[in-house]
Amino acid sequence: MDSKKDTAKWAASRGALEFVKDGMRLGLGTGSTAEKFVILLAQKCKEENWHLICVPTSERTAKQAEELGLILDKDYPDFGHLDLTVDGADEVDPQGNLTKGGGGALLREKFVAMASDKMIVIVDEAKHVHRLGETFKIPIEIVAFAWTNTLKKLSQLAQEVHLRQRDGKTFVTDQGNYIADCVFPGIEDPQKLHALLKSISGVVETGIFANIAKVCVTGKEDGTWECVEF
Ligand code: A5P
Repeated sequence: MDSKKDTAKWAASRGALEFVKDGMRLGLGTGSTAEKFVILLAQKCKEENWHLICVPTSERTAKQAEELGLILDKDYPDFGHLDLTVDGADEVDPQGNLTKGGGGALLREKFVAMASDKMIVIVDEAKHVHRLGETFKIPIEIVAFAWTNTLKKLSQLAQEVHLRQRDGKTFVTDQGNYIADCVFPGIEDPQKLHALLKSISGVVETGIFANIAKVCVTGKEDGTWECVEF
């Protein structure tokens, strides 16, 4: 049986599905919420005989989408323009700024979202915060080369910096980079902090998605959802 949180994630996914139309070029997010959206999308395509071209934001999502019979862009990873991207998030602030990268896919997620006419974020209510950084460390993708130097630079800005580990080893992204999870409790100006972090040589991308999402669909534990536009 689904947990209440899963019910909310399914609801958000159903809400986002209403924005999808036959023939679209669609970006597919990564994470437990995006995974549910991909399942519903594949069902819809079969039922309605829809032809979509999909661009996944991770190897994990690519595998899931292909197994479910969704068609990936034949030119992937050189995919060009997209109509819509639907993805999860770790935090959403009232202006629609996001923290992303809990699943380590933030670089591809940002590429795909930025290539889309519209990005829809799908979340449950627990993801809503007053300010980014309140409940989640900001994931920052860094190159492996001279990573200790980059961590030192990040430590001058963040309260704490943690090199992400998985199964006792350094976590490596789909792009072959590392992730530094950084504590910035309550970020006042997400765009400014993002720009400052990007100015450090070893930083490839940050998990701060400022002014990128156009719609937030929040799933509720009673199975309903709410849409907000930014
Ligand atoms: C993946 O790198 C992330 O950006 C996810 O989109 C984010 O962590 C949300 O994941 P869940 O839907 O699993 O909470």
